[in-house]
Amino acid sequence: MQCPTGRQMKVYLETMGCQMNRLDSELLVSRLCAAGHEIVDEPGQADAVLYNTCSVRQHAEQKVLSRLGADGQRKLTGRKLIVGVLGCMAQRKGEQLRKDCPQVDIVCAPGQLARLPELLAAASESVPSVALDPKRTDQPRPAGNEVIDELDLARDPAGGASSSQAFVRVMRGCDKFCTYCIVPFVRGPEVSRDPARIAEETRRLVDAGRTEITLLGQTVNSYRWRAGEVTVRFSDLLSRLSSLPGLRRLRFVTSHPVDFGDDILQAMAELANVCPYLHCPAQSGSDAVLSRMGRRYSRADYDGLIDRARAIVPDVSVAGDFIVGFPGETERDHQASAELIRRSGYKNSFIFKYSPRPGTAAARELSDDVDAATKKRRNGELLVVQNEVGLARHQALVGKTVEVLVEGPSPRADRQATPAARGETQLLGRTVGDHIVVFNGPDGLAGEYVDVMITGATALTLFGQPAQK
Ligand code: SAH
Ligand code: SF4
Ligand code: F3S
Repeated sequence: MQCPTGRQMKVYLETMGCQMNRLDSELLVSRLCAAGHEIVDEPGQADAVLYNTCSVRQHAEQKVLSRLGADGQRKLTGRKLIVGVLGCMAQRKGEQLRKDCPQVDIVCAPGQLARLPELLAAASESVPSVALDPKRTDQPRPAGNEVIDELDLARDPAGGASSSQAFVRVMRGCDKFCTYCIVPFVRGPEVSRDPARIAEETRRLVDAGRTEITLLGQTVNSYRWRAGEVTVRFSDLLSRLSSLPGLRRLRFVTSHPVDFGDDILQAMAELANVCPYLHCPAQSGSDAVLSRMGRRYSRADYDGLIDRARAIVPDVSVAGDFIVGFPGETERDHQASAELIRRSGYKNSFIFKYSPRPGTAAARELSDDVDAATKKRRNGELLVVQNEVGLARHQALVGKTVEVLVEGPSPRADRQATPAARGETQLLGRTVGDHIVVFNGPDGLAGEYVDVMITGATALTLFGQPAQK
């Protein structure tokens, strides 16, 4: 990431976790650059190293702790270095983090990131900071009137890793309290943003050339804004944003199966630039497990949603999330998840092994009784089923021509793809349905929309060549 302004401090920022963190990091870079800092790509060059962290599984936190171990070693050798832990793990661990890891100078929760320039200034004077969001219990509390989008409004619309794509937050937090999940505790109560501000931010991004916008929320379809007599639903927001001139693709993630009305599906079907892509995690195919997870829907409700989606948006491409080895998950429950993958025909699924998170209802009340080997086996088995289903979806696209937004050179040379000829690069892009397409073309196509004829497929990737005009 390049920073256009002068150099006060060299800052290395590593981002872990979900799209929310990727967006927060982009906004933070805008903020730090505006304050005169420079962003560097190598921690070895930095005056300050910052980790924007995730707490969703124990593994994610372990990664941060191992980075902090290395930073602690560097500081022991006398190197002057500011170390900051930001985001979800900062909020979860709070003061304790500095007790456990004295090499940490800054602990900064997701809602406090706007304060980072002042926290860095204090740290440079050897004053440590712990900036946390208000703690919440597992009872939803009503949203206040706090400003939740200070960083969002101040962002540089031309900043960020991509010149053609951008995330826009439509809401913060989550009130669903699925029994396994740490997110409501670390991201706070669900609060929707003013649609006028979302529209203004989106317009500025589109004016700066960002033609694909992805709206973000932990349960994005629960978006609801009330002002006096007027209520703006998520479908109303989609319709308002879709009319912005220059916006070619409008996406949204992640959807919760509850609150998913036909109005949203209709908006997807009718608004030309709203992408027919639905990331709607099921987590399990078994009613008994769904109930212990506190997901608030049954297997039949979920099947009904997928049927409605395919009826109203016939070309919809669907992605899911599953947790294997949730407390009490039997072999039968596991088979129900495999069967749900087949029935739903997902394009892809993210499959996770259950990880108890301290403070959640599941960690408190249910025993983590599925052993590690069984979790691993079940994870592998669901992946095999998903790969079969994903491959079938992909094979149905062979011979078709699809529009691809080119993201840039493919990060890994794909052995299945035709080797690139002289003057060409192996490029990677995505279709409206979020299918990954690899094809050869000139370097300069990044950010362009190209029609690609699909010639081959694996479970995760489509291969093709630019279509003849
Ligand atoms: N808000 C989104 C996703 C939140 S976290 C949603 O509700 O869909 C992303 C994914 O991590 C979840 O969908 C779930 O599959 C997984 N996950 C969350 N908590 C977990 C835990 N304790 N152990 C394993 N996976 C978990
Ligand atoms: Fe976590 Fe459930 Fe909220 Fe998603 S909906 S963030 S899984 S509590
Ligand atoms: Fe992780 Fe926080 Fe996202 S816990 S999944 S980075 S909201």
